[in-house]
Amino acid sequence: MSNYHIKHLEEYFQVYRKSVRNPEVFWEEIAEEHFVWHKRWKNVLSWDFSKPEVKWFEGAKLNITENCIDRHLKIRGNKTAILFEPNNPDEEAEHITYLQLFERVNKFANVLKQEGIRKGDRVCIYLPMIPELAISVLACARIGAIHSVVFAGFSSTALSTRINDSDCKMVITSDGSYRGNKTVDLKGIVDDALNQCPCVISVLVAKRINSKINMKENRDKWLQPLLDEASNSCEPEIMDAEDPLFILYTSGSTGKPKGMVHSTAGYMVYTAYTFKNVFNYREEDIYWCTADIGWITGHSYIVYGPLANGATTVMFEGVPNFPDYGRFWQIIEKHKVNQFYTAPTAIRALAKEKLDFVEQYDLSSLKVLGTVGEPINEEAWHWYNDHVGKKKSPIVDTWWQTETGGMMISPIPYVTPTKATYATLPLPGVQLALMDEQGKEIKENQVDGRLCVVYPWPAMARTIWGNHQRFKETYFSTFENKYFTGDGALRDEVGYYRITGRVDDVIIVSGHNLGTAPIEDAINEHQAVAESAVVGFPHDIKGKALYGFVILKETGETRVHENLRKEINQVITERIGPIAKLDKIQFVPGLPKTRSGKIMRRILRKIVENDTANLGDISTLLNPEVVEAIIEGSLVK
Ligand code: WTA
Repeated sequence: MSNYHIKHLEEYFQVYRKSVRNPEVFWEEIAEEHFVWHKRWKNVLSWDFSKPEVKWFEGAKLNITENCIDRHLKIRGNKTAILFEPNNPDEEAEHITYLQLFERVNKFANVLKQEGIRKGDRVCIYLPMIPELAISVLACARIGAIHSVVFAGFSSTALSTRINDSDCKMVITSDGSYRGNKTVDLKGIVDDALNQCPCVISVLVAKRINSKINMKENRDKWLQPLLDEASNSCEPEIMDAEDPLFILYTSGSTGKPKGMVHSTAGYMVYTAYTFKNVFNYREEDIYWCTADIGWITGHSYIVYGPLANGATTVMFEGVPNFPDYGRFWQIIEKHKVNQFYTAPTAIRALAKEKLDFVEQYDLSSLKVLGTVGEPINEEAWHWYNDHVGKKKSPIVDTWWQTETGGMMISPIPYVTPTKATYATLPLPGVQLALMDEQGKEIKENQVDGRLCVVYPWPAMARTIWGNHQRFKETYFSTFENKYFTGDGALRDEVGYYRITGRVDDVIIVSGHNLGTAPIEDAINEHQAVAESAVVGFPHDIKGKALYGFVILKETGETRVHENLRKEINQVITERIGPIAKLDKIQFVPGLPKTRSGKIMRRILRKIVENDTANLGDISTLLNPEVVEAIIEGSLVK
């Protein structure tokens, strides 16, 4: 059906118009023709952004794993579903067929049940990028348990906060993980975290690095022996369309992380549809997304979207620079990858290395290149286009968020003409608006506004776990009757969107969203620190890096500042994880504040961007004199 696979630009406009004129009919046709349901919906959509409440396909019954696995068995049983490429290139890649995936998911699901997990229970998954990660996600979905995957780079404190927030009964982890030539003691991190988590009653441990670890009696069990004993058939739990499928935490500008709740049917329909169109996916293609399943990109476009299309999805355990900077390109050649999806930060890091790393590999299999996670700069875009795509593979710059569940703005390859740094056009079903700060809609071109979505789409998050009020305040209160993304954007004369970056206190470092508040809280825990403020500053590879302004309690602090810097980063590593470490720390006598005591981050941002000529009016500050002192001591000059 033409709706499902768009083939030329005129068709895109037709499909888009239809999706706007009658969204319900549009999504209903897709849902009807491309998925298996146990019961049909009564109502395609009901919604009210003021509450907010959104329901798609209400009344329908399904299990997403039947759509991602079972239904493919007849025609694709021996096709590779997951292609696992280990950290070490000398270790053999593993081809898991749909039939094998079916059996492994069923066994795992039976183990979960046997360990007391039931529909609606929360299960925390803290695993490296090994097949068990995808399999455990699907096993939860098979029995209707709600998975909460926590990226295995988070610290024990960050992990325990997430476990407790959603009352997880179980944690699934491994003895450790490989990262390049290092190993990480994941089980040790879990043990530390669980000292603070009374809700967890059992821990399943996958073996990966064969290290010696502690196993707590009556709580911890090795996974493999349980799987060996389990039956390979597990009837899927029949779920309601709106039953939660998973929780995934994302940073907010303030407070603790937000557990975004995604529901089943709408998420499935939307991720499958966007996967197929945005990657121009064809039956025999090999698709590779380099994200970690600990982030939304991995959920939607390593696991659910590709598998719902019966695709072969590559899972890579390692890092781009091990054993050398050619690893990505070597993997593309080895597996003849057709679609490659990565982040601007990775592109920038690889573009800095010798071209020889790319040129020695045959990349002719590539048909589509993708990018996601932060705005891609012009230079990185061209490098990707010239040296990886050889000017033949269109780049899909996909804008979306943990909250949106799937891609929202993106070119459709071979259909939408691309333009460097522009995510281009909204996908079918996505209705956007740009708003000014006063709440008026911006109709002009090239005017930076706040990006909003004015109509529901099937994969949107339904709430924040345990805090619907916060969901409403964060996303639906800034502009009446609109979902506010937190991003700035502008539109060009042909209607292409360019994302200009966050307009709130979220900073994207190497593609990871970090809220300033939790980092400042961590810094302030250091005994020598009185107060702090964190802002982002431009960085060649990371996009943005973190700059911390720190006021010490005693100005006569005897410890050398270098040591203090290390200690402060140590606290951050413990509280959040190494991804939130500060690149620069400046000790300051004070922070610019409004008369009501609010830190003026805008001024600090200008200072670190070396744009002190445009500080604006600082005379209304409580303490304008500190601004001069901060500029004096600034580390970016
Ligand atoms: C940013 C990742 C520019 C944006 C899927 C968004 C982007 C945040 C792009 C969400 C892009 C993502 N161009 N900016 N193509 N894609 N972003 O929740 O600021 O990890 O709000 O989801 O990343 O990050 P998240």
